[in-house]
Amino acid sequence: MNITLPLPDDFHIHLRQGKDLENYAKSAALQFGRVLAMPNTEPPVNSAESVKKYKEEILTAAPGLEVLLTFKLNKNYSEQELLEMRKNGAVAAKYYPLGVTTNSQDGVAKIEDMYPTIELMEKHDFVLCLHGEEPGAFCLDREKEFLKHLEKLCETFPKLRIVLEHVSSAEAVECVKNLPQNVAATVTVHHLILTLNDIVGDSLRPQNFCKPLPKLPKDKEAVRAAVFSGNKKFFLGTDSAPHSLEKKESLCGAAGVYSAPVAIPVLIEEFENENKLDLLSNFIAGFGADFYKIPRQAKTVIYTQKEWQVPKTIDGAVPLKAGEVLRWQK
Ligand code: NCD
Ligand code: ZN
Repeated sequence: MNITLPLPDDFHIHLRQGKDLENYAKSAALQFGRVLAMPNTEPPVNSAESVKKYKEEILTAAPGLEVLLTFKLNKNYSEQELLEMRKNGAVAAKYYPLGVTTNSQDGVAKIEDMYPTIELMEKHDFVLCLHGEEPGAFCLDREKEFLKHLEKLCETFPKLRIVLEHVSSAEAVECVKNLPQNVAATVTVHHLILTLNDIVGDSLRPQNFCKPLPKLPKDKEAVRAAVFSGNKKFFLGTDSAPHSLEKKESLCGAAGVYSAPVAIPVLIEEFENENKLDLLSNFIAGFGADFYKIPRQAKTVIYTQKEWQVPKTIDGAVPLKAGEVLRWQK
């Protein structure tokens, strides 16, 4: 049996930098036609020049990939800088609260400090991507406690397009649903299928450890219900975030799930199991493009029902579902 899908978009991916970039960009290009690349590289993407350079590096590694760029919102930018970044391929800014995730030591303590730039972003119709976690809160409550900032942003900048990235809690799903149409959320594959049990319930599974943490069964169910209702505010951003095996299996393990190589096959299974395959195209290649105001993908890709075993490592990182058998492949 075959299934024809639009070539997927990934509206949240980490492609890293240096020698790792080549493999991760190539792997991404095998799955996706377009990606929104996150800026928490070392050094960060936070200038017109670095946006340009990062785009060129990604395209050198994966010439066919369509790349949309983000820049790190950890300082205020002038109007001219913003427009130059747009010219170089940036469509969104990414806001990381201080210290909440990988490479956020240079994050921001108070979002209001970024309001001058956010005002310019609203004026020029940039998207604001939020890592929505409140530093210092109990780990399972960090997303919930961030929602007050999201609500205030919406009130202050009513025309600004905002994406709450990797939504992971019932409260955040509800909040995004209730806010106006200019507020959406990306959903990862892993938050659709994992809970805290899959990280620490039995053995410790560092490959599933990520920010925001996969939470309680009710949270996973809320994320699933939003996606399987076909609500256009919820679209795919894998947050595929590879780290080397050594970095994951360490006394201070890195947060991030490497999901890009398995994302679409896993999604097909999940949508199939829910009898919602008709909603998959919009989730992977419709709603996100509409929200970002880019044309929907015209190319298609065929997946075949044929079992395969996910390798134990890919590109030096342990992928989501490593060692497990999946039902669909390209
Ligand atoms: C991401 C990474 O490794 O860059 N990690 C993660 O756990 N999701 C950063 C992020 O998006 O939080
Ligand atoms: Zn991310």
